[in-house]
Amino acid sequence: MAATADHSTTGATAPAYYVSTPIYYVNDRPHLGHAYTTVAGDVLTRWHRQRGEKVWYLTGTDEHGQKIMRTAEANGVSPQQWCDKLVEEAWKPLWEHLEIANDDFIRTTEERHTARVQEFVQDLFDKGEIYKGGYSGPYCVGCEEFKLPAELLDGATADEKLCAVHKRPVEWLEEENYFFRLSAYGPRLLEFYAANPDFIQPASARNEVLRFVEQDLKDLSISRSTFDWGVPLPWDEKHVLYVWVDALQNYITAAGYGSDPERFAELWPASVHLVGKDILRFHAVIWPAMLMAAGLPLPKRVVANGWLMVGGEKMSKSNLTGIAPTDLTSHFGVDAYRYYFLRAIPFGTDGSFSWEDFTARYTSELANDFGNLASRVAAMVGKYFDGVLPAATAAGDAEQAVADGLTAAVAAADLKIGEELDFAGGLAAIFEFVKQVNGYLTTQEPWKVAKDESEEGQARLATILYTAAEALRATAVLLNPVMPSTAEKLWVSLGAEAAGLGALGAQTVATAADWGRLPVGATVTKGEILFPRLEEKPTA
Ligand code: MSP
Repeated sequence: MAATADHSTTGATAPAYYVSTPIYYVNDRPHLGHAYTTVAGDVLTRWHRQRGEKVWYLTGTDEHGQKIMRTAEANGVSPQQWCDKLVEEAWKPLWEHLEIANDDFIRTTEERHTARVQEFVQDLFDKGEIYKGGYSGPYCVGCEEFKLPAELLDGATADEKLCAVHKRPVEWLEEENYFFRLSAYGPRLLEFYAANPDFIQPASARNEVLRFVEQDLKDLSISRSTFDWGVPLPWDEKHVLYVWVDALQNYITAAGYGSDPERFAELWPASVHLVGKDILRFHAVIWPAMLMAAGLPLPKRVVANGWLMVGGEKMSKSNLTGIAPTDLTSHFGVDAYRYYFLRAIPFGTDGSFSWEDFTARYTSELANDFGNLASRVAAMVGKYFDGVLPAATAAGDAEQAVADGLTAAVAAADLKIGEELDFAGGLAAIFEFVKQVNGYLTTQEPWKVAKDESEEGQARLATILYTAAEALRATAVLLNPVMPSTAEKLWVSLGAEAAGLGALGAQTVATAADWGRLPVGATVTKGEILFPRLEEKPTA
């Protein structure tokens, strides 16, 4: 956990803006696909913190089930030892490295989770929502999910069928299980979707769920008795709870369900569940039905992101295409990494990562458009005004146009990033503004104006440089949720805090467009280069 939100700005009872990521399976180390969602949630929650809202950002790990158990066995350790090792050595350190400011990290093997999960399912059992039955069908351990025959691909032999996601053979399972009466919830779910058109996003995801629920829902097998790595059913300890039913509850157990009613009232229902499109049905069908059965409110939104692809396939460790985020951050840096995936791929659609595309965006958008602007402005304030920010005493239409451009950029970014989760659109708006400031300098030519030593000439020069520095002040605020280290470097180079503006983290979206906030007299220094020239692409 890199940082903790300051919750002091709002009253204790105000509902919090609560965002969750999926909890990740710890059978393996994280790859770019996992980091993609976690970074998106981090940017979203940092944006809302910067609005001054009370925010709660949750991530964690999904540690039960057959997949984890088999991985641990194959490695000659107990499942718990395996999970502890992966969480501590791989998952938590990655989130810290990527500057993820989560407020909590839930592990499904923690007692605070398992004890509440048992109470939740006992309650459903007592209400008659769970009954005993038998089931047989094809099961994919990779997905931890029963499949329908129509969803499978043909395998190498006539009998073999493959999971369409993992391209691995499914297993035939036949056992006595407990079932949740999911089939009873179809009409109520459809009613809920109709009354809450924004519940599932994007529209393609919503349509997929509607089509699925409009067919008859089947009851859901929620227990397994052939292995024991899971939460035991309290009324029949020969069974462990199906890993998905266990996992989904992390969103309430971490938020204080059954343990801290006050906190739970403040946090639940969640504002946004971020999920990959492959786990949409669990979140938009099964989870809401379970909550309805328990009499709890439903989350406000489930937003599905697309997949990062490699060679036309979902990037994954099981397909041996999983790339470690550190392979990229060691070359491009953490902030550029956080920026790139959100800027390059419209949120909600699949996208391919390419080294060339990343390099091109790094060079043109980050290093040239943004980084050079910051260093040129600091250098000119240094050269012409000894590093002391002068006042804009001769502002006219050109300066007004920059201020107007900022107002438009803040409004667009706030709507797109903060509400629509259109990170690419929001970043495009911010970088349009950066381009506008570059254009302003190109037209105003301060390096030529500097040669005019008249009072008028010097007033123009001061005005141009103040305008550019003030534009950078706002840009640092707008980019802070996306590239926190870079924004901080810029903040330091503008001397903003020392001049009385306060810490970057204390700036708000609401005041970002208030023109003239950067105090005259601020000490502007050249500081660190924001985006250094890239080394050659590593060959290995
Ligand atoms: N443990 C479950 C989630 C339980 S949530 C109550 C799970 N874990 S997972 O580790 O397999 O996947 C977690 C998330 O990573 C999913 O949202 C999945 O879509 C996402 N991704 C895995 N590979 C991905 C890509 N190549 N691209 C983008 N996201 C992908 O499912």
